[in-house]
Amino acid sequence: MLESIIKYILVPEEEIQGIVARLGEEINRDYADKNLVIVCVLKGSLMFTVDLAKKLNLVSEMEFVRVSTYGNATESSGDMKILLDFERDDISECDLLVIEDIVDSGNTLSRLVKLFKAKGARSVKTCTLLDKPARRKVDFVPDYVGKVIPDEFVFGYGLDLFEKYRDLPYVAVVSDEYLKNLK
Ligand code: PRP
Repeated sequence: MLESIIKYILVPEEEIQGIVARLGEEINRDYADKNLVIVCVLKGSLMFTVDLAKKLNLVSEMEFVRVSTYGNATESSGDMKILLDFERDDISECDLLVIEDIVDSGNTLSRLVKLFKAKGARSVKTCTLLDKPARRKVDFVPDYVGKVIPDEFVFGYGLDLFEKYRDLPYVAVVSDEYLKNLK
């Protein structure tokens, strides 16, 4: 049962939508005279990307990438493999905004930023719904942050628990009981 998996709801739906609206306003302002290309990092940032994109009143485009980080269920390692990439002839005219659900160690976004800069993007910035700075392993600061959260194992609103519960409209903390059974 879902109730037994949830310790508490960390970011309720209304708060998420408030964050999305605020970030949307900031991005509308900052990208008014740019050539915005939103880069959705699958799968986790799908919900956030879709909601955020609906708040934008700019002409923008979307690209999708998928990466795999090696590690266990709760911790990524430094290695990253690109599973889905995109190619554009006009990359030197693109202002990329890479969208994530969460920054944890920082490995994924720091590597993606390097990759897109190396490909020749005009600018590369990052936007994350959740930031967990306590877990950082590399020196990385996202440009747009929805909410800084404590070092808790969270799921919902794109974030999975063994691939499930991405469809929840809120972000919840995993219960101690569930975590105990993982070990
Ligand atoms: C999660 C999340 C970020 C990354 C953050 O993805 O969506 O992409 O981990 O962790 P990091 O800062 O330590 O790199 P995950 O690998 O779980 O894949 P998913 O998005 O498909 O769930």
